[in-house]
Amino acid sequence: MSERKQIEISKEKIEEQEKYIEMLHRKNEDEFIKTGKRKSFIIQTFGCQMNEHDSEMLISMLESIGYSRALSEDTADIVIYNTCAVRENAELKVYGNLGHLKSIKRKRPDMKIVVCGCMMQQEHIVEEIKAKHQHVDLVFGTHNLYKFPELLASTFESDKILVDVWDIDGEVVEGLKSNRKFDIKAFVNIMYGCNNFCTYCIVPYTRGRERSRKPKDIISEIEDLVKGGVREVTLLGQNVNSYGKTLEEEDRISFADLLRRVNEIEGLERIRFMSSHPKDISDDVIYAMRDCKKVCEFLHLPFQVGSTSLLKKMNRHYSKEDYLNIIKKAKEEIPDLAFSTDIMIGFPGETDEDVQDTIDICEEVRFDTAFTFIYSKRQGTPAAKMEDQIPEEIKHKRFDKVLSVINRISGEKNHLYDGKIVEVLVEGASKKDSSIMTGKSRQNKTVNFTGGDESLVGRLVNVKITDPKSFSLNGQLAEVVS
Ligand code: 5AD
Ligand code: SF4
Repeated sequence: MSERKQIEISKEKIEEQEKYIEMLHRKNEDEFIKTGKRKSFIIQTFGCQMNEHDSEMLISMLESIGYSRALSEDTADIVIYNTCAVRENAELKVYGNLGHLKSIKRKRPDMKIVVCGCMMQQEHIVEEIKAKHQHVDLVFGTHNLYKFPELLASTFESDKILVDVWDIDGEVVEGLKSNRKFDIKAFVNIMYGCNNFCTYCIVPYTRGRERSRKPKDIISEIEDLVKGGVREVTLLGQNVNSYGKTLEEEDRISFADLLRRVNEIEGLERIRFMSSHPKDISDDVIYAMRDCKKVCEFLHLPFQVGSTSLLKKMNRHYSKEDYLNIIKKAKEEIPDLAFSTDIMIGFPGETDEDVQDTIDICEEVRFDTAFTFIYSKRQGTPAAKMEDQIPEEIKHKRFDKVLSVINRISGEKNHLYDGKIVEVLVEGASKKDSSIMTGKSRQNKTVNFTGGDESLVGRLVNVKITDPKSFSLNGQLAEVVS
């Protein structure tokens, strides 16, 4: 492997891509005049919000080039898979989908197949695609997404598969436009990469070293979003609690101070953030959450497993007691705080007692939601080489056991809202019934309510909960707040 380094992507390099966007746009317009048909794309995103946000940037580029959205892969001129490497399932799905595209491409050889994202940062995956999926046109990784217009233009010059994956520690790109999925809420990257090297996790290898964006760039992006109608932002990073560490001294602020600064942005109503690492969350972050009105009462704090010895094997740097102490402190300071977490079942060496430790944490914290994952062996990570791998059947049994605890607690927590008033940011009409509006509470619960209509989209309203369900809250509009 070549020497790894971190690089800066200059504004000029980003602007250079405009040239390719214009060129491809002209090409599309010429073809539209000839055929009367607009070219279209479809993009499938796997994995986390970081990937979702990357896809939003790709969509913005494609729309600037003049591509419209296709309804299916059968008709799309460009098919993009923005991949995830965190678990094997998502990888297998990509291979399956690529297999399915083979026959479509045979019928329509002009279509372009693009695969990008975390999976592509792994050499063995790129080799497999080159060997078994030669109908793919373009492969690129997580570090050069900004170059997509140039890479796409190159695919029109050659029939061969084009691979451009950078083996670097990371980059910070400023000024890329993004076509955000929602008009009223937006994801904002505050940092990229991860330095933690949890022994099961592929992310430090696919997303590179931790690096933070400057506060002024983050603030000005959010100010622009608010001008465009956004009312809620989610600050994104693999470990937002270590925000700022890589910044030059004159720019360096802590995550708690970043929250305080974002809280001052006029017109913004709500702030969320994810993900947090228990080893880095400071009391000051909890105080900032308590003191900043706009920071929602919701904390996603992955604990993975309850057993201190397994946590050590995972390289997580906290114990069961440390985790419970953070939660205790957060509950004391912010009484109506909702909790969410990530849990992993079946890490090498896990015993029934370890699973009981995990269940103990669930019972003690009483999470509102929890994402439960079965450990998946990732090539190149230390845990993949550990000898005491757990058989699939046992993993599944343990998973079901933990899931039933989590679901019971989530349901019980939702029922506590019966008869209460919650503030909801309205997102739109329910897909099932257009007379029912839907949105999220500050605690990140999905709330469906009657008595409103589409004119409330983007507004904050109070809803009286009359029928709490296990995974959502149902109620009636009480009043419009703002
Ligand atoms: N297997 C299963 N789950 C994983 N996660 C990360 N790596 C793996 C893996 N190898 C989970 C962790 C993390 C979440 C985003 O994904 O729980 O918090
Ligand atoms: Fe992966 Fe651990 Fe980094 Fe999260 S903190 S991205 S689990 S290495």
